Amino acid sequence: MGQVKDSLGRPIRDLRISVTDRCNFRCKYCMPAEIFGPRYSFLPKRQILTFEEITRLAKIFSFLGTLKLRITGGEPLLRRDLPLLVKMLCELGEYEDIALTTNGYLLSKYAKELFDSGLKRITVSLDSLKETTFKYMNGGVSSVQDVAKGIEAAIGAGLCVKINVVVQKGVNEDQIIPIAEYGNNLGINTRFIEFMDVGNHNKWIEEKVFSARNILKVLKSKFSLEAIGSNYRGEVAQRYRVNGSSWEIGLISSITKPFCQDCSRARVSADGHVFTCLFGTNGFDIRSHMRKGLDDDDLMGLISKIWAQRKDKYSEDRALLRDNLEKVEMHHIGG
Ligand code: GTP
Ligand code: 5AD
Ligand code: SF4
Ligand code: SF4
Repeated sequence: MGQVKDSLGRPIRDLRISVTDRCNFRCKYCMPAEIFGPRYSFLPKRQILTFEEITRLAKIFSFLGTLKLRITGGEPLLRRDLPLLVKMLCELGEYEDIALTTNGYLLSKYAKELFDSGLKRITVSLDSLKETTFKYMNGGVSSVQDVAKGIEAAIGAGLCVKINVVVQKGVNEDQIIPIAEYGNNLGINTRFIEFMDVGNHNKWIEEKVFSARNILKVLKSKFSLEAIGSNYRGEVAQRYRVNGSSWEIGLISSITKPFCQDCSRARVSADGHVFTCLFGTNGFDIRSHMRKGLDDDDLMGLISKIWAQRKDKYSEDRALLRDNLEKVEMHHIGG
């Protein structure tokens, strides 16, 4: 069938598949504990895509031109036997770049097994090195030490590690330099992300956004930064090389400088719904079509049709759309 483009000419380059909607953290910016309490019900097992279904979808998307695959959650390491899925996806042979996003809590346990299963890259969320701020932001479940141990284990296992930091004004902007230094010391690329209005419960207001411009200002007070071009069209981070070294930092400015024009990401939720935007409302239920017995060509046809009709540019239209939309939750669709 070949490469498919949407109504703005954007291909599908990057596929993100959530393997579970469960998470053991309660990040205030994603799953605030007062809403997602102990009685919150996650998806029942029968609704979750099996490893075979996930692998089949990854293959079908690759036939439509997808080059990159990211495994997300919820927290993907909570999915039982995840290294086996990683192995199945690597053995497909369709993706050179397979990465995993994790909160790091279980990483020290699984890093080696993931590497041995073929995984090469991992992105770990770390919003603060200060314990009180870390616990405040992430719901008090884990500790900085747990995540740091996970990061060290991942490096030790041979994984290429990145750090993601969500910066919220008045909460953790004092952590920008400490985390950048931490990344620099370990030689791992670090990305700072503007706080976004994902889902319906994180009490987002523009005043809580610490802009990429301000993040850059803070970083420049300590490091000499040189802007570098993007690796490919549609890359979300603006990248900078630090002090002439190969170490990089990235800024992700979804609020102040949206990048929808080049957005080439498709997302599949753990229950097999295809979303064409992180801020979508309802995904397209591809799981029921798979379970009805459609063959690969028919599924490919359905996905192409959805993508071809895509017009999403939420971040560019945020001011118009924000108050009127019920949005999918981030733990459901992945980061
Ligand atoms: P690499 O493959 O390592 O380059 O990572 P990536 O650039 O795909 O970034 P990653 O998946 O780690 O995304 C970092 C963060 O950027 C996410 O957690 C989101 O907060 C934000 N982000 C990623 N993709 C999108 C997107 O399509 N739209 C918006 N608005 N934000 C995004
Ligand atoms: N704003 C920005 N990024 C977010 N993430 C989750 N919620 C938000 C938000 N409200 C991203 C973080 C995390 C990844 C899983 O999702 O980067 O690392
Ligand atoms: Fe935090 Fe990720 Fe869990 Fe959301 S899914 S609460 S961002 S660890
Ligand atoms: Fe893509 Fe939607 Fe993010 Fe814009 S807001 S970059 S269309 S996922």
